[in-house]
Amino acid sequence: MSKNILILPGDGIGPEIVAEAVKVLDVVNQRFDLGLNMEHALVGGAAYDEFGTPLPDVTMDKARAADAILLGAVGGPKWDNLEDRELRPEKGLLGLRSGLELFGNLRPAILYPQLADASSLKPEVVSGLDILIVRELTGGIYFGKPRGIRTLENGEREGYNTYVYNESEIRRIAKVAFESAQKRGKKLCSVDKANVLEVTVLWREVMNEVAKDYPDVELSHMYVDNAAMQLVRAPKQFDVMVTGNMFGDILSDAAAMLTGSIGMLPSASLDKNNKGMYEPCHGSAPDIAGQGIANPLATILSAAMMLRYSLNQAEAADAIELAVSKVLDQGLRTGDIFSAGMTKVSTKEMGEAVVAALQEV
Ligand code: NAI
Ligand code: MG
Repeated sequence: MSKNILILPGDGIGPEIVAEAVKVLDVVNQRFDLGLNMEHALVGGAAYDEFGTPLPDVTMDKARAADAILLGAVGGPKWDNLEDRELRPEKGLLGLRSGLELFGNLRPAILYPQLADASSLKPEVVSGLDILIVRELTGGIYFGKPRGIRTLENGEREGYNTYVYNESEIRRIAKVAFESAQKRGKKLCSVDKANVLEVTVLWREVMNEVAKDYPDVELSHMYVDNAAMQLVRAPKQFDVMVTGNMFGDILSDAAAMLTGSIGMLPSASLDKNNKGMYEPCHGSAPDIAGQGIANPLATILSAAMMLRYSLNQAEAADAIELAVSKVLDQGLRTGDIFSAGMTKVSTKEMGEAVVAALQEV
């Protein structure tokens, strides 16, 4: 059965890194007979330059029709001063996430043993790190209404946002988290601020209710300030963490850096049917765009996640992850993960090395 994959390179380093991931997908497509049809479309700054909008209807239509989406990155100084903020490249990404209801954001933070010296923490604290952060992506304070900046009667200005989650939003992200934990170490830590915020009192209650359907998963709760501390103190105590949109945004960036480079981190954003959009955690890196030096591994690993989560092709996903590990064994490093004694390679050389390693796994 054939599957339609929409490729959205975006702008900045997006097209450079996505090109390498597509080469890798081409190889596994043949090798494992996956029947993937890949089609490209524009999003972000590239779409704005062509159509005057970061998310043209034609792209959204293709995204709705696709079985899965692989995205590079969007955004950059070229578009930062657009008069209409709604036309910024980043709005294209938010439009895709909310339009497709991609509420379940999975961000694995895995430290490859070959990169142990790239982590900001001591080896004994991080070696073997393999945690998964499940972040709610389409609700919470980033989307709650009302919001804005108003002027009070006394003339003072006031900014406000609304932190709101309803039961069904919490329940559906809880299910994603429990199911993820079931497939891994069977430990789930739900992160909230239930000592202060009512919305997270409900969050905690619903997590406890959903837990009854997953008796094999051990659920614990932690306040977000403590979770931030524990992540840098003893990150290996965690298996899967689940949290709301804003806490997840912050904690997942902190977790990401434990692994050395943002250039290594993939992500998945899933809807209720596990249809998903897959993208590296990093942005469009305008400072290095066009130089051919960006690390394509986060995007290649995102393609592996796509095969695993949306296309049920675990064997092909395993092969890609193993190939990535092999190129790291060979000492090949892009600039962001380079250290003395290693071989510095370009974006393209790294992609081609993964392709070569794939022939052998
Ligand atoms: P960034 O992630 O683009 O870059 C941060 C730093 O990491 C830069 O020094 C960059 O060179 C480096 N870096 C990032 N990815 C890399 C890779 N694959 N290989 C080697 N080095 C890499 O974050 P920044 O600078 O805050 O944002 C730049 C633009 O990207 C902004 O317009 C921002 O809005 C956008 N952005 C887009 C995201 C997305 O498309 N999902 C996510 C985050 C930011
Ligand atoms: Mg963020």
